[in-house]
Amino acid sequence: MNIKHAKILITGANGQLGFDIRRILNNMGCDFVATDYKELDITNEKAVFDFVKRGNFDLIINCAAYNDVDKAEEDSENCYRLNAYAPFYLAKAAKEVKAIFITYSTDFVFDGNKGEPYTEKDKPNPVSVYGKSKLKGEVLVLNEYDKSIVIRTSWLFGINGKNFNTQVLDWAKKYKELKIVDDQISSPTYSYDLADFSLKLLKKVNFGLFHFSNDGIASKYDQAKYLLNKIGWDGNLYRAKTSDFNLKARRPNFSKLDSKKIESLVGAKIPSWQSGIDRWWEEYNAI
Ligand SMILES: NC(=O)c1ccc[n+]([C@@H]2O[C@H](COP(=O)([O-])OP(=O)(O)OC[C@H]3O[C@@H](n4cnc5c(N)ncnc54)[C@H](OP(=O)(O)O)[C@@H]3O)[C@@H](O)[C@H]2O)c1
Repeated sequence: MNIKHAKILITGANGQLGFDIRRILNNMGCDFVATDYKELDITNEKAVFDFVKRGNFDLIINCAAYNDVDKAEEDSENCYRLNAYAPFYLAKAAKEVKAIFITYSTDFVFDGNKGEPYTEKDKPNPVSVYGKSKLKGEVLVLNEYDKSIVIRTSWLFGINGKNFNTQVLDWAKKYKELKIVDDQISSPTYSYDLADFSLKLLKKVNFGLFHFSNDGIASKYDQAKYLLNKIGWDGNLYRAKTSDFNLKARRPNFSKLDSKKIESLVGAKIPSWQSGIDRWWEEYNAI
């Protein structure tokens, strides 16, 4: 698809990923309609249908999601509305106007028991409401419309939003000792790189399910350590276990996504998570 001349709709455009999709499209000189909750609540099926029909879009990129993994355990209805049914409404509307539809999912669709990186062929088995809602969204979208792309990603951080990096920076300001878990392992992923590869994938005619995470494997402890070293924090960092904390939702222990499929289709090397944090840090400080 030639994005330059496409009519593009972005939903959830004010989040981390939405922000980076917008800045890349701006740099490419593309026109697009950016909406967030106020302009288009994607849980409203009729509003979605009317908006898409009126805009007659060629490409719809859904960046909206319910991402509060712990809150979702007690707020399952709202979580499913946004993560499962809303993408389904968008896929149906996209089908109506023959637009390509892209939406995003998560490494939390896996239970973490495989012990090596998950490919698109591995069977999901989510262990949280959040993971189940995202899987339901994937299935509804892919069954509804064959020009859909679902990209699973992990541990997203961007310059426009709150994430584990910003959380670590807040803690580092407040405390001299930090305990971070080393038994949750995946890969931190810079939303700019996800946005970049998503848009590059559109140049190829390829639909279906993809994995994208920054290259390399890290625990939450590794991620925090890398960032704390970078900022020259002079406190003490300790290893902890997930069971030390009273979290509402279960999380997979090992959910690294094997991203070779998108890498070889796009024909570019996926940057490492460390490079993602380096670039994030520079840009985060520049705003
Ligand atoms: N963040 C992660 O660690 C992570 C990990 C794996 C996968 N993912 C997936 O990656 C994608 C992008 O995530 P992200 O971190 O960029 O998300 P994000 O920063 O939370 O952004 C989501 C955006 O959607 C908006 N939104 C909420 N409800 C909406 C509604 N009903 N209609 C329209 N917009 C609505 C939010 O607005 P408000 O802020 O006002 O609610 C927010 O601007 C999502 O599919 C997410 O599930 C994220």
